[in-house]
Amino acid sequence: MLSREDNELLTRVGPGTPMGELMRRYWVPAAFSHQVAEPAGAPLRVRLLCENLVLFRDGQGRLGLIDERCPHRTASLFFGRNEAAGLRCVYHGLQFDVAGHCIDLPCVPQLSPEQRQSVARELAVKAYPCTEKGGVVWAYMGPPALQPEFPELEWTLVPESHRFATRHIQECNWLQGLEGGFDAPHLTFLHAGDAEESRKVVPSFYEVMATDFGFIVGTGRDLGGDDIHWNINVMLMPFHKIISSIPHAAHVWAPIDDENTMLYSINFHPSRPLTDDDLKREKAWEGIHAENIPGTDRAIQNKDNDYLIDRAWQASGASYTGIKGFGIQDCSIQESMGPISDRTHEHLLATDSAIVKIRRLLLQTLRDHAASRPLPGINPESFRVRSTRCEMAQGLSIADQAVDLVRADRMTAAE
Ligand code: FES
Ligand SMILES: [Fe+2]
Repeated sequence: MLSREDNELLTRVGPGTPMGELMRRYWVPAAFSHQVAEPAGAPLRVRLLCENLVLFRDGQGRLGLIDERCPHRTASLFFGRNEAAGLRCVYHGLQFDVAGHCIDLPCVPQLSPEQRQSVARELAVKAYPCTEKGGVVWAYMGPPALQPEFPELEWTLVPESHRFATRHIQECNWLQGLEGGFDAPHLTFLHAGDAEESRKVVPSFYEVMATDFGFIVGTGRDLGGDDIHWNINVMLMPFHKIISSIPHAAHVWAPIDDENTMLYSINFHPSRPLTDDDLKREKAWEGIHAENIPGTDRAIQNKDNDYLIDRAWQASGASYTGIKGFGIQDCSIQESMGPISDRTHEHLLATDSAIVKIRRLLLQTLRDHAASRPLPGINPESFRVRSTRCEMAQGLSIADQAVDLVRADRMTAAE
């Protein structure tokens, strides 16, 4: 279990909260580039880290992510006219550029040029810098002086043809998603019926290590041979997971607010385009991706319809859950823990040791941030890693080698 105070510290992400401020030190995904592809096209509402924003590409192709609320009388800029120089509020015509400056005040023609300038200064809106990487618009919402370079996140570096990405809203706090992503024992149960052979064995060894990018979770299974079979998973700050599979995969748990998360799911191949076969598998929606209600970020299988659970399928034993899709199985169970899981009610078991250590590491990172100590994942090169697997003799710890192994796996991809 976790104390109420620590649960609050880890889960709350609004402005001014410790975790919210920590996340604001990193680039966070705001939308897919294709959602705002057209210059002067329709703006997009974006809710990120409890802030309501509007994303738009102005007529000159520049991206702006600004406060949704017009500073004049609080109308929504989502309804704005997207013009060459910026977004214009349709209530009284104020216009804002991508940096949030008020550049036109047509409703008060009587102002002198000096008055106009000073009023415009007062009316500037909050604006966050954006960059496009890997088909995603990323925002930096932290202190301008501390803006880091964009990290070398592998799936954002491959050509578009090598990547397949979707997103959908997970209706719970981000930490339930992240913890689920690093909860190895659940693979043997929740996903049973789909899981590969080796995962039918509950892991008996757990190691968690802090690194310069985030942390590593090693999970060892005794498959009956001389060696222990280790899965070595990387967590990249503040909410990325790379999944060791072919093609490779990744998740990003980007908080919309405290009780909703935008889960980005990605398949990618470092050195070749994804094939029709690769894509056919993913578009059957049985893997990590979810099929959405058209035109929305809400999965067709959602909590209002109990994720279309099929009790007969569950009873047959062919599926442990009766719920279709790896990703939806995860969402269903993580959402079932409540919008923000009350971890004071937990009874942790020995197999939760990795989860306990992950929480301790995140709490330590919050303390490091508060004390202005260096943070993991700020150096862009630190992300040059990939989750991997290895065999190791019984009785040996992976701690000494884990960092080398996840770096080496990424290096092989470069060839
Ligand atoms: S409320 Fe936006 S211009 Fe008046
Ligand atoms: Fe899972």
